[in-house]
Amino acid sequence: MAQVKIMARRNGPFRVEAPEGAIELVDADGNAYDLTGKTAFSLCRCGGSVNKPFCDGTHSTIGFEAAEAAVKEVDKAAPEQPKASS
Ligand code: FES
Repeated sequence: MAQVKIMARRNGPFRVEAPEGAIELVDADGNAYDLTGKTAFSLCRCGGSVNKPFCDGTHSTIGFEAAEAAVKEVDKAAPEQPKASS
């Protein structure tokens, strides 16, 4: 079983669960966020959090919708669909 679990919450954040110290989360400059004592946290994917990269619950007030789901890869043997001409 994997040590790190990342769950795409329905119409919400990415929920990250891992043993303490198993994950390093850094900003664009490589500076680490303090995750001391945390074994779970949520990362904003709606863009509305004022506490990025963490979720602050704003997604539920702005009507964020995420339609993705884990699906099997499309059968590569299937013929390609013709492209629409313009
Ligand atoms: S996903 Fe929760 S505030 Fe963006």
